[in-house]
Formats: sequence, C-alpha cells, structure tokens
Amino acid sequence: MKIDVSTYVNQFLDSKLVEKYSNRKDEIFKKLDQADMNGWLNPDDSFIDQLLEVRNEVLSHSKCLVVIGIGGSFLGAKAFYEMFTPYFKKNSFPIIFAGTTLSSTYMKELLEYLDNIDFTVNVISKSGTTRETELTYSVLKKLLEKKYSPKEVKKHIIVTTDPVKGTLRDEINREGYHSFVIPDNIGGRYSLLTAAHLFPLSFCLDIKELILGYQEGLNFRNDAFLYAVCRRSLFDLGKVVENFVAYENNWYYYLEWLKQLFGETEGKKGKGILPISMIHTRDLHSLGQFIQEGNKIIYETFFKLKNMPVCNVNGKDLHKINLIIEDSVISAHVSGEVPCIIIELDDFSPRSMGRLSSFYFLVAAYSGYLFDIDPFDQPGVEVYKTEVKRRLA
Ligand code: PA5
Repeated sequence: MKIDVSTYVNQFLDSKLVEKYSNRKDEIFKKLDQADMNGWLNPDDSFIDQLLEVRNEVLSHSKCLVVIGIGGSFLGAKAFYEMFTPYFKKNSFPIIFAGTTLSSTYMKELLEYLDNIDFTVNVISKSGTTRETELTYSVLKKLLEKKYSPKEVKKHIIVTTDPVKGTLRDEINREGYHSFVIPDNIGGRYSLLTAAHLFPLSFCLDIKELILGYQEGLNFRNDAFLYAVCRRSLFDLGKVVENFVAYENNWYYYLEWLKQLFGETEGKKGKGILPISMIHTRDLHSLGQFIQEGNKIIYETFFKLKNMPVCNVNGKDLHKINLIIEDSVISAHVSGEVPCIIIELDDFSPRSMGRLSSFYFLVAAYSGYLFDIDPFDQPGVEVYKTEVKRRLA
C-alpha cells in the first residue's frame, strides 16, 4: 500500500501549518495508546474457530443469512460483502442486510421472500436498544416462530451484542442462543474485526486473510499520522470536504463505511471535515462539474488499484483504460485547485482491504485528536434516538 499525501497536495499546503500539527505527534500517539476505546488496536481473534463452527451449522440448515443491524453494526460487513461477492450473485449463499430501513414496502417483501426459504437471523446491536434493529428483529423472530418448532428456532437465531449489558444479552441468557460479543472497549464504527462483521463475512470470504491484512495496516502509524496532518492543514485552508473516489462500482458501500467512520468521529462541537464519496466514472457526469469548477471547499482521496483481472476490449486492457482515466481526472482536478491524495493498492483482496481499513481507523483517531475532540463517541446520534423513543413511547 502506497500513501501519497504530497505529490498533488504540497503545492496547496502551508508549511507552517503542517509543522504546527506535525509537532503534536508524540502527544497524540500517547493519547491513542491510553484511550479507553482503543480495543481495535489489539483485536482478539480467539473466537474465530467457534465462529466458523457456528457458520458451518448455519450452512447445514439454512439457505440464506439475514443480518439485522445499522451504522457501525452493519456497514463493515456490507462493504466487504459487496466487494468480495460477484456482481451477479447467481450461485452464492445470499446475505440480506435488513434493519437499515423501516420502509413498510421493504418489510412486506422481505417477509414474503423469507416465508419460502430456510433462513437464519444474525441480530447485531451493541446497545441492544436501536429502534430499527429492535423492530426488524421482533418481526423476523415472529416469522421464525411461525416456521419452526421452539427447539429449531434456537438454531436459527444468532445474537451479537455487548458482553454483559442490554436486552439482547438478557435474551441470550434466557434462551441459550448462539452468541458473539462486541467488546466493551470497541465502538460500533471501529468494530470491523469483531464478530459483528467477521461472522457475516465468514460466509463469503476468507476472514483469516482479512485479519492478517488488518494487523498489517496497524503498522502504518506514521503514514496515518501524516495523512491526518495533511487533512487537518487542508481544513484550515478552507478545504472542509473530503471526497473519497473509487473506480470500481463494488466499492460503493466501502465509501459509505468511510463516510460513517469520519462523519461520526469528527463531526462534533461545530468542527470536522465533511466526508462525501464518488464512484467514477459514473459520478463525473453528475458531481464532476462541481468538483472541477465549483466552490473550492473540496479535496479528494483517490483509490488506485494496480492489478485487476484482465478484460480485453478492442485489443486494450479495460483496467489500463480505467487507470488512464483516473490519472487524467487527478490532473484535471489539481488544475482546478483541488488537492488530491492518492492511495495505491497492489491488489484487491480481503487482505489488502483489511490493511486499508485499520490504516483508516488510525487516520480517523489521529484526525479526531488533531481537532481536539473525542474520536470515539457520537453524542449527536443519541439526540435523534432519544426523540424517537419519546414519540414512540
Ligand atoms: O458507530 C456507532 O457507534 C453507531 O453507528 C452504532 O453502531 C449504531 O448506532 C448502532 O448501534 P447499536 O450497535 O448499539 O445498535
């Protein structure tokens, strides 16, 4: 993985600002090492064998897994599922991600679909009190109870939640469901290497490769800090929006995952960089005009994939054409006063994406500290949750 925060950025930066933020390195490294919520720096993978056993059991009796969760209990698994399953999923074991919408149309169609299929539910919620998750789980549990005997229902529910607290933990203790934990010292958006994501992903990719890459990514502390300094300095120069750009359609949810990571980490106390995303070349024909000639509040991070499957079109490798377009766009945007950070990956695999993901956890945490906010809480999300609770009481 190569992280280039200088070639297309330095010309826009002010060296005094960079120096000011760079000087905070020791203080910030220490802060992260001492943070209560830094469990993601030393993830526990001792539960993997048990996790694979439960997966095999599910495969023996179900034709599909329904994952119920939202936010940090959803996006990581969804992102990797989309990236590492075929576009046209004809023969694979489907994973349905429910609980992200309270659309009645969606729910009706989901219930009709599941009525005719053997399925297992994996409900994921650290707090156990998220309304979307609670509601969806209660509806799907009723369907399971209609389809199976009480003994069978137990095999079709897997719960991932807090190790001790919450209604879901109480239910596990009462009913004896298979269960996994989201550790106390890991917040939702930093929970990629917990069972919240690894269990669903064990159905579609080699999670041991993902874990290996994740551990490698944690060694990129210096690059992550440089990236955070670059972001913080650009912010002071009025570049208050970061646009994450990928050239593969199946990165859509990965960019959503990044948006959540930075949005919830930094958007506090009137501060923070707004994360947005684009998939090229599609979005060049929508937001491209704004990026090139609109308000100069944006900088971009481009993901570049060096090696991809060869597909010849009119005697030319399509991926090479995609890369030429990517270079051309970077050049055009830099000429339009848009600084561009480049992250190049040698290959596209669970391992390389695991590496990129833990690298981004570091960038997010350091960026939060550079804004002098707590990178691990999300008090603003609670405001709407409390209001919903009041109105639906
Ligand atoms: O990152 C976060 O902490 C949030 O996005 C939560 O994951 C999200 O609100 C869901 O919470 P829970 O897992 O408690 O249902």
